[in-house]
Amino acid sequence: MGLLVFVAVLVLEAAVLAFGQTGFVSIDCGFAGDDNYSDDLAGGITYVPDGAYVDAGENRKVTTVYRKKGPRYKTLDTLRSFPSGQGQRSCYSLPTSPGTKYIVRLEFLYGNYDGLDYLSLSFNLTLGVNHWNIVNLDTDDDMYGYRAYAAVFEAWANWAPVCLINTGGGTPFVSTVELRPLGSLPYPAMGNQSLSLYERKSMRRSADDEIIRYPDDPYDRYWYARELKADDHASIISNTSAILSKGSFEVPSRVLQTAFVPAGSSKELALQSKTSDTPLPRDHSVILHLVDFQSNATREFTVSIDSGTPTSPINPPYLEVMSIFYWSSGSEGWSIKLNATAASALPPILNAYEVYSRIIHDNPTTFPQDFNAIMAIKYEYGIKKNWMGDPCFPPEFAWEGVQCSNDGDRTMRIISLDLSYSELHGLISNNFTSLTALKYLNLSCNQLDGTIPDSLRRNNGLVVFSYESDGDMCKKSRSKNRVTLAVSVVASVLVVSVLVLAYLIWRAKRKPHYLSTDHPPTVPELMEASGHRTNHWDHLQRPENRRFTYEELEKFTDNFKRLIGHGGFGNVYYGCLEDNTEIAVKMRSESSSHGLDEFLAEVQSLTKVHHRNLVSLHGYCWEKDHLALVYEYMSSGNLCDYLRGLSIANF
Ligand SMILES: *[C@@H]1O[C@H](CO)[C@@H](O)[C@H](O)[C@H]1NC(C)=O
Ligand SMILES: *[C@@H]1O[C@H](CO)[C@@H](O)[C@H](O)[C@H]1NC(C)=O
Ligand SMILES: *[C@@H]1O[C@H](CO)[C@@H](O)[C@H](O)[C@H]1NC(C)=O
Ligand SMILES: *[C@@H]1O[C@H](CO)[C@@H](O)[C@H](O)[C@H]1NC(C)=O
Ligand SMILES: *[C@@H]1O[C@H](CO)[C@@H](O)[C@H](O)[C@H]1NC(C)=O
Ligand SMILES: *[C@@H]1O[C@H](CO)[C@@H](O)[C@H](O)[C@H]1NC(C)=O
Ligand SMILES: *[C@@H]1O[C@H](CO)[C@@H](O)[C@H](O)[C@H]1NC(C)=O
Ligand SMILES: *[C@@H]1O[C@H](CO)[C@@H](O)[C@H](O)[C@H]1NC(C)=O
Repeated sequence: MGLLVFVAVLVLEAAVLAFGQTGFVSIDCGFAGDDNYSDDLAGGITYVPDGAYVDAGENRKVTTVYRKKGPRYKTLDTLRSFPSGQGQRSCYSLPTSPGTKYIVRLEFLYGNYDGLDYLSLSFNLTLGVNHWNIVNLDTDDDMYGYRAYAAVFEAWANWAPVCLINTGGGTPFVSTVELRPLGSLPYPAMGNQSLSLYERKSMRRSADDEIIRYPDDPYDRYWYARELKADDHASIISNTSAILSKGSFEVPSRVLQTAFVPAGSSKELALQSKTSDTPLPRDHSVILHLVDFQSNATREFTVSIDSGTPTSPINPPYLEVMSIFYWSSGSEGWSIKLNATAASALPPILNAYEVYSRIIHDNPTTFPQDFNAIMAIKYEYGIKKNWMGDPCFPPEFAWEGVQCSNDGDRTMRIISLDLSYSELHGLISNNFTSLTALKYLNLSCNQLDGTIPDSLRRNNGLVVFSYESDGDMCKKSRSKNRVTLAVSVVASVLVVSVLVLAYLIWRAKRKPHYLSTDHPPTVPELMEASGHRTNHWDHLQRPENRRFTYEELEKFTDNFKRLIGHGGFGNVYYGCLEDNTEIAVKMRSESSSHGLDEFLAEVQSLTKVHHRNLVSLHGYCWEKDHLALVYEYMSSGNLCDYLRGLSIANF
């Protein structure tokens, strides 16, 4: 039997080592190396540099003197400090999976890294957009300014930002950032509330400042020792016999194999927080972990938290874990009172406890899908700016170029994105499409290539989309290169105005009595709907808007040889005019899901937005059921030659 248990333990340990650290994100802040490393003292956890998770701050090292004291984890040797003005925010973005519960832990070791010998340091922590804790570091204590802060939360998006706010109490910094998935542990963290760890203790003697953590605890919770104090009137018992069940909170055996019982023949065990501790918010929860490893004789007691009404008697089963969870309100600090009943043969027992305060998520947050999309865009293009934390909230930290709706709701939507002059390279990201509330997108004056994603064009009527990469507007841009502009304007006023014209011509053709007029009588009506439209109509009336025949288009596009794009409206072809002017010809296909009436509806909404046209329109074609718009086409190479088969070298 003994051997069996031993073998089982070995197998378990091997499993933990082989399959452990699943989902762990372990960041050594300020670590300048390129490679990750594994720290034996921290259970062999692999730490990675922080560059991928943060854009701000600078790498610093603690001084040697301080490095010799306090917890000796290697990750505490370096830190990232954020010299910034009071009220400024600096954030790490941690990769999460929505709906999964996590522990996030930040560790701080000041270690006089800046040579300024601060006696105390203070700044705020936020989890997402909500207040988490005030970091208070007493650099004079026996930990030399070391503190760890942890929270349990349920992820709401693909990223969870944790931020340090400069409150004027010194330069914020952080030494370690860790994220640990919690599986199905029943901590009461959910969308609208998280838990801020106040204390997590195991009742034992501490050897130095040893922490029980990974790999004893596969979730890498830190279990500090709650040492015995004279006024506890308690004694410590221990037993290394195996605890039979893991319990719903899966507390490690090592944590549970020691316990407090009342001293002497007392039947009552009473513990409370120290008054000298950081204040504990009145709204907090206490979790007790109880297991009887002494004997199977009757052990029965009532539990009273924060001087509340005692519970009905409970019996922690022999060698099996029982966890008791309470929400409390109305008490500063916490107290636990265990009182044996008359029927009990044994005194009460307490093995471990946890105390949490509540983080209430009541601030407006960016809609998760929008947040995911903008983060994907940020990483795809390597955008830095001030893009950290939540994109929309609080407004004073809103991301540069990002505008959000604020309709008093708790969810904010990204409605406008100006990425002009952002030095974007590469293709136009599909992720713009995921910003489904977007009404304005300006990608002008970047080095973007290729066509606009179909999905974005399908949506085009709803977005004011600006995508110019050349011309006077971009002159101040650093790059002088002309850049391919495949399909230039998706929803410009000019396009829709021409559609109005085309529609009207079409109607004119269908209704013979309109044929005699230059433009149908419905035009003035339409124009009156919005004051702006008159100008566009005037613009369209200009003689330079050439009317093409279908035959001409066939010729100019070499029989629609080069397809350069496709949208809801139809295909877009490359072409060349007689004078070698490059054109993009947008054909309306019969199968287009966009009816003309639908387009007109979009015209109505779009023309309300003042929008500068970006490429010039050459003209249109309306003939034999063919509707086409002909634009100027800009490219870096000579596509006219390509079309004529003279040179394919550049393609
Ligand atoms: C650590 O680095 C190695 C080699 O560069 C890599 O294979 C491994 O995935 C990295 N581990 C983590 C946790 O990033
Ligand atoms: C820091 O947190 C405290 C407590 O929530 C709050 O009163 C204070 O306004 C915060 N300071 C800043 C600059 O956010
Ligand atoms: C969180 O939401 C639940 C329902 O989903 C509700 O019962 C609870 O009161 C809410 N808590 C807070 C702090 O808003
Ligand atoms: C330890 O547990 C064993 C049973 O596993 C029991 O026989 C023994 O009395 C216990 N010792 C103490 C000191 O509680
Ligand atoms: C208690 O343990 C003893 C021996 O360890 C056993 O004989 C007895 O049946 C147990 N009693 C109960 C109530 O489990
Ligand atoms: C403990 O319980 C006993 C009876 O079970 C009761 O008489 C006594 O008042 C309780 N003590 C406290 C401090 O609650
Ligand atoms: C961003 O785009 C990539 C490539 O198209 C895709 O795999 C990813 O799921 C997108 N992310 C989001 C959040 O939409
Ligand atoms: C797009 O951004 C550029 C550069 O900031 C600006 O000149 C242009 O007017 C913007 N386009 C629209 C349609 O707002």
